Amino acid sequence: MKKRILTGLQPTGVITLGNYIGAIKQMIEMQENYESYIFIADMHAITVNQDPIVLRENIKSLVALYLACGIDPKKNTIYIQSDNPYIGGISWMLECNSYYGELSRMTQFKDKAKKNANFTSGLLTYPVLMAADILSMDADYVPVGVDQKQHVELARDIAIRFNNKYGEMFKIPEPILKKVGTKIMDLQTPDKKMSKSSENQKGVIRLLDDIDVIRKKIMSATTDSEMVVRFDPENKPGISNLINIYSSLTNKSIEEIEMEFKDSNYGNFKSRVADIVVDVISNIQNKYNEILNSDYLDEILDSGMNKNIEISKEFYQKMKKVIGLGRN
Ligand code: TYM
Repeated sequence: MKKRILTGLQPTGVITLGNYIGAIKQMIEMQENYESYIFIADMHAITVNQDPIVLRENIKSLVALYLACGIDPKKNTIYIQSDNPYIGGISWMLECNSYYGELSRMTQFKDKAKKNANFTSGLLTYPVLMAADILSMDADYVPVGVDQKQHVELARDIAIRFNNKYGEMFKIPEPILKKVGTKIMDLQTPDKKMSKSSENQKGVIRLLDDIDVIRKKIMSATTDSEMVVRFDPENKPGISNLINIYSSLTNKSIEEIEMEFKDSNYGNFKSRVADIVVDVISNIQNKYNEILNSDYLDEILDSGMNKNIEISKEFYQKMKKVIGLGRN
């Protein structure tokens, strides 16, 4: 039997090249050999403030982007997290088996809470909802970027704890991270990850950015004064980030890339990186525009919803039973 992979992305604004390389591309590479589940984490999006109209538009747009990127609906179950009425209840049962201490130690929570002292309690319990997503779909592997690794590890801890307390219930999932591209950095401030919520748009490439704008963003990426295309994230974060992007999109190794550009100046190197990024993204954009208005998005989401509900409902009922909720 095929092993099961699962991942989710938040529909908060247009996804970035970092999301594509860190999560979607991995899913596409694995979809042939695994039973694959990819969903829209819209309930995670509301841990911070969202405009309802924009949020709903982003959800459909993200589904269309999944398909445009190459997520094959015949090989993947694609669904919207909030279409599943059981996920909130499952998350609650897991919350009551996780601790304030471990949640408040999550790096992402600490960073976000620092930025806005008036954070919601959902921001704190966000990783438990993520554990509910993973555990209630019986996932073996979770392809993610490095920023989500800690959350998948927490899901493992919660699964082990629950199994010990109530008897074997959950598989223990494993995060899957690629060797390169697990953290694409901001082009302007390459010591920070490329993030959807970044204030400086010049450092972030979004999959629906204008192609000319994408080229400009890469050409004006921060570099250094050494003028050698060499991978050294600590001393040369800008160039190393571009090498990472190039490596992820061409599947060439870092050593091959250093050789390829050993006689190049930064302008030539950036221009090659821009060619590759533009090539990948313009392909995605062409397909996206065809897909967005087609009727079959709803068919795909309905069938994904049914499969998602079928699997997680069983967990919901088994969990209630072992915990002692409800009636016999
Ligand atoms: P989100 O929406 O922040 O990010 C989606 C995916 O993109 C990866 N990623 C990156 N990878 C490389 N470089 C970057 N700069 C970069 N920025 C983001 C993230 O690691 C992630 O894999 N909580 C999750 C969504 C989620 C989920 C889940 C994921 C909810 N439930 C269950 C896996 C399994 C999130 O907010 O991802």
